[in-house]
Amino acid sequence: MSDVVSVVFRREDIRRRIEEIGRTITGDYEGRAPVLISVLKGGSVFLGDLIREVSLPLSIDYMALSRYGGAAESMGRVRIVKDLDQDIGDRDVIVVEDIVDTGLTLSYLISVLESRGPASVEVCALLDKSARRIAPLEIRYRGFECPDVFVVGYGLDFQERYRNVPDILAVHNLPALVEDPDLLLPYLPGEERSVASGG
Ligand code: IMP
Ligand code: MG
Repeated sequence: MSDVVSVVFRREDIRRRIEEIGRTITGDYEGRAPVLISVLKGGSVFLGDLIREVSLPLSIDYMALSRYGGAAESMGRVRIVKDLDQDIGDRDVIVVEDIVDTGLTLSYLISVLESRGPASVEVCALLDKSARRIAPLEIRYRGFECPDVFVVGYGLDFQERYRNVPDILAVHNLPALVEDPDLLLPYLPGEERSVASGG
């Protein structure tokens, strides 16, 4: 562990938690065929692992959103950059997100989805940074409560990098990472030994 970064959620714990969530969703949606919608790009890693733990005839779809400026200034208004391929009318929708932070993006997305007449809309988020919530939001399926620090890995990026880090890292010194964006290279797949040995 360094003073810049530490592992907050290990890959084994992430895997176990996703198995549990998958079993719960399988039970809750018995006899139905939900559509799991991931918000690109962060949620795609979680979605890929989650669907292989859900024993239902589900389908998946993707949506890409772009915020007008930062979260606060945009007040959650987002532009749809890529829309769904399928009609969600009368479908059971599960929105799969990597992390819910202010909740502004997701609450906007939910209102868009609900306007299309689905049978139901629920949220499944791997991480819940509830300390930063601005828009109240019900998260039906939650992986972990997330500390109020910048996190990277397992789909979450720093400047579009490190989505392929298998563990989730907490960045305690963001200016140091901005100064040297290569600092997290030892956490990439297959580099674990150099982390363990402190190198
Ligand atoms: P919000 O809930 O509208 O504030 O936005 C949530 C989105 O911001 C997430 O889907 C992530 O893409 C991104 N995000 C929020 N917190 C973090 C973080 O700690 N690390 C990386 N991305 C984050
Ligand atoms: Mg995201």
